[in-house]
Amino acid sequence: MQVLLSKLKRRSLLKLLWLAPFAALYKYLIPKVKKENFISVPLAALPFKGAYLIKDKHTGIIKNNEGIKVFSISCTHLGCVLNVENDKFICPCHGSVFDLEGSVLKGPALKPLKHLEYKIENENIIVYI
Ligand code: FES
Repeated sequence: MQVLLSKLKRRSLLKLLWLAPFAALYKYLIPKVKKENFISVPLAALPFKGAYLIKDKHTGIIKNNEGIKVFSISCTHLGCVLNVENDKFICPCHGSVFDLEGSVLKGPALKPLKHLEYKIENENIIVYI
């Protein structure tokens, strides 16, 4: 009886160990978007063509002929909040410049701006931050 019980425990343990790598992979493969952290902006509030910045949420929404793009407007150098001037994101801290696609035009920042997930729902743009 005890042998049977110990085999069952060992078998259960082996099943759990077999699942462990998948649990670890799941953690890294599934995007970490917290759906409760979002901002909602009426589509009517967006300029016909240009940038809409929500500086306290470090979020920029760009609307142009190609559609809508949403970025984190935290500078990828050291995190200052970017401004928009002449169709460019400008960092007031050390002068990095990004185009409206989020690509670096001038350093010291090296990485492009992070795109944020969004969806359009009931005439609002919902941005996950
Ligand atoms: S924080 Fe933007 S360039 Fe340094």
